[in-house]
Amino acid sequence: MLACANFFFKSIRTISDLMLGKEEKSMSKVKVVFWSGSGNTQAMADAVANGIRSAGAEAEVTTFDSLSPSDAANESVIAFGCPAMGAEVLEEGTVEPFMADYETKCNGKKVALFGSYGWGDGQWMRDWQDRLVAAGASIIGGEGIIANSAPDDDAISQCEDLGRQLAQA
Ligand SMILES: Cc1cc2nc3c(=O)[nH]c(=O)nc-3n(C[C@H](O)[C@H](O)[C@H](O)COP(=O)(O)O)c2cc1C
Repeated sequence: MLACANFFFKSIRTISDLMLGKEEKSMSKVKVVFWSGSGNTQAMADAVANGIRSAGAEAEVTTFDSLSPSDAANESVIAFGCPAMGAEVLEEGTVEPFMADYETKCNGKKVALFGSYGWGDGQWMRDWQDRLVAAGASIIGGEGIIANSAPDDDAISQCEDLGRQLAQA
């Protein structure tokens, strides 16, 4: 009898949820993958994660050496951070080979980019965006967020905003 009543009330609730357009939605989790030599890009990664969480999603902050390009390509939405290194290039030991492989798998993915730089003008970031767009990805927010050295308040709030866009992408 009790089981019958339970079934009845569950069914009523499911039908009314359907009529109201409600559906079960699990909280999405967004990976924020970064490399940082002296902590500046890491601070940006933390701000992106804070933005994701403030929009009600989960964030997983992790480094490039803790996942494979295939793992990353399984995510429909993902964020990557890397500073300008070498002469306006990505860090060459881990990030460059990772991205070269990821580019073969990222068609249709939504990607957010961020990173810190020193004396340049952001060329490494423009090149990074162009490579991913050529590979079929779309860049969330249209372009990567760059910060000169340690991110200031404005850069932190841009990163948080990027996080909110990731959560809704
Ligand atoms: C080996 C090396 C190469 C760098 N090359 C560039 C560069 O080409 N252009 C630039 O703007 N900054 C360059 N920088 C400066 C870094 O991008 C900058 O210090 C940045 O804040 C480092 O970020 P991180 O703390 O996340 O490692 C270079 C720094 C190092 C150590």
